Parts: sequence; C-alpha cells; structure tokens
Amino acid sequence: MKILITGGAGFIGSHVVRLFVNKYPDYQIFNLDNLTYAGNLGSIRDIENQANYHFVKGDITDPDFMQDLFAVHQFSAVIHLAAESHVDRSILNPIEFVKTNVLGTVNLLNVAKNAWKTNPSEDTKRRLFYHISTDEVYGSLGEEGFFVETTPYDPQSPYSASKASSDHFVRAYHNTYKLPVIISNCSNNYGPNQFPEKLIPLFIHNIQNNKPLPVYGKGENVRDWLYVIDHARAIDTIFHQGKIGETYNIGGFNEWKNIDLVKLLCQIMDKKLNRAEGESAKLITYVTDRAGHDHRYAIDATKLSTELAWQPSLQFEEGLEKTVDWYLANEKWLSYVTSGEYQKYYELQYANR
Ligand code: NAD
Ligand code: TYD
Repeated sequence: MKILITGGAGFIGSHVVRLFVNKYPDYQIFNLDNLTYAGNLGSIRDIENQANYHFVKGDITDPDFMQDLFAVHQFSAVIHLAAESHVDRSILNPIEFVKTNVLGTVNLLNVAKNAWKTNPSEDTKRRLFYHISTDEVYGSLGEEGFFVETTPYDPQSPYSASKASSDHFVRAYHNTYKLPVIISNCSNNYGPNQFPEKLIPLFIHNIQNNKPLPVYGKGENVRDWLYVIDHARAIDTIFHQGKIGETYNIGGFNEWKNIDLVKLLCQIMDKKLNRAEGESAKLITYVTDRAGHDHRYAIDATKLSTELAWQPSLQFEEGLEKTVDWYLANEKWLSYVTSGEYQKYYELQYANR
C-alpha cells in the first residue's frame, strides 16, 4: 500500500510519518511537504534512510503537480496534515490560511477523486482520504460542557474558519462524489518538534533564555492538551479501524487554564535548570489579549475510546516533563529551526539527490 502523508515535516506529521514508517515496513510512505517555516526534515532524520520512506517536496495547492504525483504513484490512501496552523499568524495573514487550508485541501480532494475514479481496478486495498482537523472548528466553550462529534461548527478565528471550511469540503466530497473520507478533530498537541511559536515550546525557550513569558490576557483561557505521540497513535487507530464517512474527536480529557500550565512549566524548568524555586515564574508577563481569543476548548473523546478502544498513554505532568527534557536536549534543533539553517541544509541535500 502506498500512502501519501502531507505535512510530514511539520510537528504532528513528523510523528505520524515516523510511526507509520517504523510500524508498517510493508507500506510505502510518501511524505509530501513544501517545507514552509514550520516544516523541518531534521525532525525525521532518524527514518530518512528507511527503504519504505520517500520525501517529496511539493505544494498541495498546485493542481498539476499533485495530479502528476498521483498518476505516478497511484496512492491508495491520503493522510492530510499539511496546513497553516498558528492562530496568531492567521490573524495577521488570513489569506494564506485560505490558500493552504481551504484551496490546498480542495485541490487534494479533487486530485484523489479523479485518480481513484479513473483507476478503479487498482483498488486492491481500502481507499481512504483521512483529513486531520482540530477541535477549534467547534468554537469556544463556556465553563461547562464538551465538544462532541455532533457539536455544530462555530469557528471564531481565521485559522479555525479555514479548517472548518476544509472539513466541510471533505464531507461534501464524500456526500457528492462518494469519496471515502474520515475526519478527526483533535485538541491542542504538545511534545517534541513543535515550532517555537506555540505556547509550550516558546515558553520553554524563553525560560531558558531568561526572556519574558507573554501570557495573553489574564491567562484564564483553557486548553485541552494531548501528547503528540498519542495523537499519532490515534491517527494510526482511526486510519486502520475507523468507519468511512465518520468523524472522531481525539483528546485526553486534560484541561488546563493557561496560567496554571505556565506555572507548572516554570516549576519543572526551575528543577531542570537548577534554579531557585519560583525563579522562572518571575518571567511571567501579562500582555494584551489575542484578538477574539477563544475561552475554552474541551474534547469528549468517548466515541474513539468506546468504538476503537484508543486511550492516551501519558499523564500530562509526565508528558510535559518529557517534553521539557527533549527541548533541553535538543537546543540545537531549536536554534537551527528558528534561524532556518536546518531547513536550508536539508533542502540542499534533497535537491542534490
Ligand atoms: P505545523 O504547522 O507544525 O506543520 C504543517 C506542515 O505543513 C509543515 O511541515 C509545512 O511545511 C507543511 N505545509 C504547509 N503548507 C503546505 C503546502 N501548501 N504544501 C505542502 N506542505 C505544506 O502543523 P501541525 O501542528 O503539525 O498540524 C498538523 C495538522 O494537524 C494541521 O492540519 C492542523 O490543523 C492539525 N491540528 C493541529 C493541532 C496542534 O495542536 N498543533 C491540533 C489539532 C489539529
Ligand atoms: P497556542 O499554542 O498558540 O495554541 P492555540 O491558540 O491553537 O490554542 O496557544 C495556546 C494558548 O496559549 C492559547 O490560549 C493562547 C495562549 N498563548 C499565550 O498566552 N501566549 C503566547 O505567547 C502564545 C503563543 C499562546
């Protein structure tokens, strides 16, 4: 089986690619990524020489390129993660999010639809277009309640609006053209390889360098955190056992108020950096709130646990400590990533192959 994974040089994609390459030596895994600022092949260096792994540099918004790629490789399945993913960037440049997340997804859907229609006899294994989405499409919760799979969409940021739009197109292609699709909507991920613009890696970096920790508003917004490898495990489970046409919410029932999370992170960092207790927390700085900042996200992942028997493997405190250890041990990754050096090095290496 040939599987196209898009966005495999990004944060979550790198863990999905690694898991599939290592766990399924019989599958051919094609990682398609155009290496934006968020894509780093250095994150999957450990598997780049495996026989069942292939990297393709390309843009999901390019119809001719994607059509040719499908024609050559006849993919059986797509796991689509490529996206613009940062809310703050979407506030500054919403059009970029429409291009990548909406147009890019529709382009991929269209190419898959055409390829799978013209080659029905190739269909020896199940075909699947698996779209990776976010809980942010459901909008913002008050103090009570959870997002379930039937919660009406109510996106509030340009990022979540673009993801909601892409989800709608995925369902429209299933309904209209019978494209075999599955969607999963996951809560906030944390762990190794996340670009240091998101809360946890940014704050680890700033604590280490004695820089202020910019907490938006009063720090009372709530996010539901899942270790990225548990998300990759859920994607594996859903890819193999999920029902066509269905949606699955992914989360670990792990809600944290931002300020409580930041204080816990500061405590862990004090310990790891041999600082006096309370030293890192002095860096906390309350700054102007994010425009339209969603108050609370909370996923009800009961369907996934009861129907497909998936459970998160890590408690948050343990996962956060592992994450801190990883960033401290990979300072080079962080500085390469922020300077763009790593990306250039790997691009060059691939260009010469
Ligand atoms: P990321 O920003 O770390 O990575 C995105 C990857 O997509 C990068 O490697 C980038 O180079 C690539 N990419 C961007 N535009 C592309 C294009 N036009 N063509 C090809 N590749 C392109 O994102 P992430 O945090 O790993 O998120 C992956 C997916 O999971 C996204 O669809 C996101 O919406 C979703 N998601 C993320 C989270 C989270 O907490 N990070 C939670 C739930 C769902
Ligand atoms: P982020 O990691 O950007 O994820 P998302 O916006 O997709 O949930 O932010 C997580 C939470 O942390 C969110 O409520 C915004 C807040 N935040 C800060 O307070 N300061 C920061 O510098 C960042 C990046 C985020």
